[in-house]
Amino acid sequence: MTKPSKTIAILVPALLLAAFAAAPAGASAAAPSGIVAAWTQVVPDSIAKSHLQARAVIPNGIPCPKVKKLYSDGRVSQGTMTMRSPGATTGPAFASLRACQANLPTGLKSASVGAIYVPARLHSKIDEIAVFGDTGCRITSSMVQNCASPAEWPLAENARAVAKADPDVIFFTGDFFYREAACPAGKLALCGGSPPPALLPAAGQKFAPISDTDYGWVADTLIPMAPAFSAAPILVTRGNHESCFRGGNGWMMMFEIQLKPDSCAPTAEGTSAPNNAAPTYAVDFPITDSRTLRAVMVDSNAGDNEEITPAWQPTQRATYEQGHSLAAPKKGREAWLVTHRPMFGVDDANDFDPGELNWTSVDQTQAARGLIGRYELMLASHIHTAQVVQMPAEPAQIVFGNGGSMPNPGGVYPVPKYGPLNNDQGQPIANATDPYQTVPSYFWNAVKYGHAIVTPGKKAGQWTFSQRDVTGKQFAVCSANGKNVTCK
Ligand SMILES: [Fe+2]
Ligand SMILES: [Fe+2]
Repeated sequence: MTKPSKTIAILVPALLLAAFAAAPAGASAAAPSGIVAAWTQVVPDSIAKSHLQARAVIPNGIPCPKVKKLYSDGRVSQGTMTMRSPGATTGPAFASLRACQANLPTGLKSASVGAIYVPARLHSKIDEIAVFGDTGCRITSSMVQNCASPAEWPLAENARAVAKADPDVIFFTGDFFYREAACPAGKLALCGGSPPPALLPAAGQKFAPISDTDYGWVADTLIPMAPAFSAAPILVTRGNHESCFRGGNGWMMMFEIQLKPDSCAPTAEGTSAPNNAAPTYAVDFPITDSRTLRAVMVDSNAGDNEEITPAWQPTQRATYEQGHSLAAPKKGREAWLVTHRPMFGVDDANDFDPGELNWTSVDQTQAARGLIGRYELMLASHIHTAQVVQMPAEPAQIVFGNGGSMPNPGGVYPVPKYGPLNNDQGQPIANATDPYQTVPSYFWNAVKYGHAIVTPGKKAGQWTFSQRDVTGKQFAVCSANGKNVTCK
């Protein structure tokens, strides 16, 4: 069998042919050989006791492939996969691909989906976690990343370096999808050929209320992420680029935990997409005999960077209340909040308006006010840098947003003069309750593409975050001791 990365490179032309062949009846009899991508997703034990679920993306019109399972004791079995379909109103945006899922049992030695091997087990002791987020190639009408240059959009290289580190598990911190517009005229050398958003099927004049397409996901995520997918099971976080009006339909079809295909579907008229938060959940990772890491996953795709939006607060607060319950203290257990938008995140100075501080994601900061005290650390991305913000007596915020999507052009990240939920005059921002009265006791920021490899220290609460560039070379080390993190 071929290694996954090679398989994908070879099979995409076949996929394109399959997609353009309009013969679903005939195609349904075809062997499920044209698998576009496959990976193993980390899911809560309410879904799979092993915490592992194989996923595959296939051309529309063929059945889901079988999962072949080789057990440690030598037994072999085959399992069927369940199809995940996009919402019925996504129209031509998701006409070409479908996704499939199947739980993996414990006790496997290896597993494969069609010709692609997928990670088959979680180690009984996790001692290496790869973390990264914010990975897609940014295309809007005004901002274009050079998707054609591995140096300027280095996701594939970064994913290869992650695979080379051979982690036990990968935490993806959100924001896969950035191909939100057709490549602008005059920028074809940078992004020509990038799959554009689909037109509405009937009128053909107006863009659908979503920016993602199945081929956009192939280009932005499935091909460049393939080395990482083959390396280890992946725990995925929904970013604001996976909001329903952006990459949400692809997210729901391929990556959301629950099989609920209409979660992001546009209205029947195709005029708007919903705003929603997926359910909060937690996954436990054994570290040593006496030490467990609990990752509490909160969906922060929605909400606002600069304003507190009262209409959204109750929905978002409920997700953090659930997270707070899941983070209940237990001997030997350390809880991390994993959510895309940072509680304490310092944005580029060029990215905020007069009168505002450069704290980002204030809707999240407000919604989680009083609900973060049980976490040892908070992992996020959203800001396209590697960053640590320590607020006194709070869990450190670590940002892993340097996965490949272009950073803001300014590159200046000043420490705010006042605490989160205040404006630049030290006054509460509109709708803020209980703004922070202190400023960061520590701040570290690096504008450099890469990922982090996280390893546990000898004692409870001790962790090392090796900050690495896209070749895997370490450029900084951050050390956690309880709720505190410093870097050098
Ligand atoms: Fe992002
Ligand atoms: Fe983001």
